[in-house]
Amino acid sequence: MRFPRDFLWGAATSSYQIEGAVQEDGRGPSIWDIFCATPGKVYGGHSGAIACDHYHRYAEDIALMQSLGLQAYRFSVAWPRIFPQGRGKLNPAGLSFYERLVDGLLAANIAPLLTLYHWDLPQALQDQGGWANRDTLMAFADYADAVARRLGDRVKLWATHNEPWCIAILSHALGKHAPGKTDWKLALQVSHNLLVSHGLALDALRASASAIQAGIVLNFTWATPGGDRQEDEEAAQRYDGFFNRWFLDPLFKGSYPQDMWDIYGARVPRIEADDMALIQRPMDFLGVNYYTRELVRPGQDGFSFRFERNPKAEYTAMNWEVYPQGLEDMLVRLHEDYSAPPLYVTENGAAFDDVLTPGGVRDARRRAYLEAHFQAAYNAMQRGAPLRGYFVWSLLDNFEWAEGYAKRFGIVYVDYKTQKRIPKDSALWYRDFIAQQRA
Ligand code: FCB
Repeated sequence: MRFPRDFLWGAATSSYQIEGAVQEDGRGPSIWDIFCATPGKVYGGHSGAIACDHYHRYAEDIALMQSLGLQAYRFSVAWPRIFPQGRGKLNPAGLSFYERLVDGLLAANIAPLLTLYHWDLPQALQDQGGWANRDTLMAFADYADAVARRLGDRVKLWATHNEPWCIAILSHALGKHAPGKTDWKLALQVSHNLLVSHGLALDALRASASAIQAGIVLNFTWATPGGDRQEDEEAAQRYDGFFNRWFLDPLFKGSYPQDMWDIYGARVPRIEADDMALIQRPMDFLGVNYYTRELVRPGQDGFSFRFERNPKAEYTAMNWEVYPQGLEDMLVRLHEDYSAPPLYVTENGAAFDDVLTPGGVRDARRRAYLEAHFQAAYNAMQRGAPLRGYFVWSLLDNFEWAEGYAKRFGIVYVDYKTQKRIPKDSALWYRDFIAQQRA
């Protein structure tokens, strides 16, 4: 595997998962602070209140990235640090933190990829309906503008949203993430509003920082029929529509997939004039988050799904099948079926039950997972996919949302009692891999 010389190797994190310091320097509450404080929502009652204390340790974390030879780092900005009430009065201390972070990264020769929204919506906006309220879309564009004005001269790569599927469906239909709603009509309206807000934010970014490259980050799950019956084939098609096409088609084809539109029936979103044009704004890149596939069969009601287990496959601690072929096929499909712009793998990685020993963390399975997925990405490039870089999820063990701290995705182990960072074997392997690629 020889990747192109200018291929970017990096790692990813997000604000609420690592920063902590939730009450510092004027940060307002986010929907995740509230969700975590709601009994029964997050494993062990955990929260991001302290997390990896990255807000105070960012300089040490940059040095860590440097020691691993990372060329790029994907992080997100916490909206409630910039606008504690979501809109209105800007909090300069919040912007200063990200300015210090970005300047530190640049000084270390690490290219930043900044995500504007990785799920920590200001609670004040949620109180007014959150993403279901069209006013939030304008507030998001104003927030994008404020961050771009400050950092647009230094950050080249900008992503609007991280994983609209999770923001809309997982959080508003399935109730698993903040704000924990279970209303399909609401969820589909949120999915549409998010895509519109993405277009508005792209316009705002380009107006305030003309030289940047901007895009969105989507998550994909490859769908394979879970049996040989016609209805299994149809269920896999439908799952692909539910997970992948519902977001890809409007962005790249200008309309929602007809089969899903029919299935959703009365639950479909209301679309306003100009919405589809905003959603289709050209992008400089598409971020691809990929972890697994599902073996899909129909549920009882023709709407839901059931999933088979592959007895031959390896599963991660998330109970996700290790299936690198899905990454290869997805990247190729984005190129062939959607004429996608340049692609970045913005997240890929695995949680395993790591054990810290005096000799470090022997996470051979994570290393094998990464190696197999790098190979898949390489194969996709041989098949024409315009892949430009790869961000491993995650730099650090961190707050894994509803799973709290129970699931460790880091290539670097975090001892939460002491906040000590210990590179796992996978991190040392990645360091050597990057060095070889650059040699
Ligand atoms: C993705 C999220 C990321 C992380 C990984 C495991 O859905 O974007 O924050 O939690 O999953």
